[in-house]
Amino acid sequence: MPDNINAIEVLNLTKRFGNFVSVDDISFSVVRGSIFGFLGANGAGKSTTIKMLTGLLNPTSGDAVVAGYSIKKNPEKVKSSIGYMSQKFSLYNDLTVKENITFFGRVYGLDEKSLQRRMLDAVKIAHLEGNEDRLTGSLPGGIKQRLALATAVLHNPGIVFLDEPTSGVDPIARRGFWDLIHELSDKGITIFVTTHYLEEAEYCHNIILLDAGKIIAQGSPKSLKADYLKFPILSIETDNLISAMQVLGADLNVKDISVFGNAVHLITSMKENNESYFSELLQSNSVLVRHIKSVEPTLEDVFIYLLEHKN
Ligand SMILES: Nc1ncnc2c1ncn2[C@@H]1O[C@H](COP(=O)(O)OP(=O)(O)O)[C@@H](O)[C@H]1O
Ligand SMILES: [Mg+2]
Repeated sequence: MPDNINAIEVLNLTKRFGNFVSVDDISFSVVRGSIFGFLGANGAGKSTTIKMLTGLLNPTSGDAVVAGYSIKKNPEKVKSSIGYMSQKFSLYNDLTVKENITFFGRVYGLDEKSLQRRMLDAVKIAHLEGNEDRLTGSLPGGIKQRLALATAVLHNPGIVFLDEPTSGVDPIARRGFWDLIHELSDKGITIFVTTHYLEEAEYCHNIILLDAGKIIAQGSPKSLKADYLKFPILSIETDNLISAMQVLGADLNVKDISVFGNAVHLITSMKENNESYFSELLQSNSVLVRHIKSVEPTLEDVFIYLLEHKN
């Protein structure tokens, strides 16, 4: 890879399927060695973008330089310079752990010696020491997902693309998987990862929020919070969420409300004494307030606000 600070540079990338615009003129860059989160709901255009960036799908217009190569002019070079874990993990369930690693090692053109060495790394990454001969299909989801990532980086690529790697995996395994992503990033690998779990954005260095093929926000978690949410947020716990939403929704000092678990998150234009104001407002409307406190905005607050106010 040339000595460029950016591992990926995307310029006016667009994909149409007939009249439908799946990815709509997006431009951005990804700093080498960073963890880049590509967020959006189902159908936002995440997989279509990844398929273009990995050389699997031709763009309708625009271009990107990935690992130093144009995806339009040199898709084959791009493919051999990167790792890719598709949305449907590509491991074979009817092969053993060792057989899967060997298979992908051969696909990536590793010689026997490198393959044996990388096999040990991969088994370690996936926490599968002593289980090399187990059938892949019999592994728990979290372990299988680690193995899929280990095979995606068998050939030591500079960039790895992960398409919804944590989808359908339990929260503890998801947490562990993000630790693994950080370990790879610490080794200098650039990680491009998509997710529809908004809270996972906190684990990324930089983020893009995609909606209907368009970028609606980008930046670091810190800058996104600072740029988009300049108003205080209160978290209110109550036994009656519905009445609380009705009372608060009718108040002029409320800019936005949403439900977060068993609490209401409220964005208010009121900078002073807002806790006592809203507490009294709810009590006087016979809504019992269990707990009210100011909270730091989460990225989920930012994204929900942006998605609701995009027009
Ligand atoms: N081969 C295709 N032909 C037609 N439409 C497609 C094709 N692939 C994806 N799309 C459409 O493009 C949109 C974005 O899809 P996708 O990139 O898979 O979204 P995401 O990965 O964010 O869920 C969806 O509306 C999807 O139906
Ligand atoms: Mg997808």
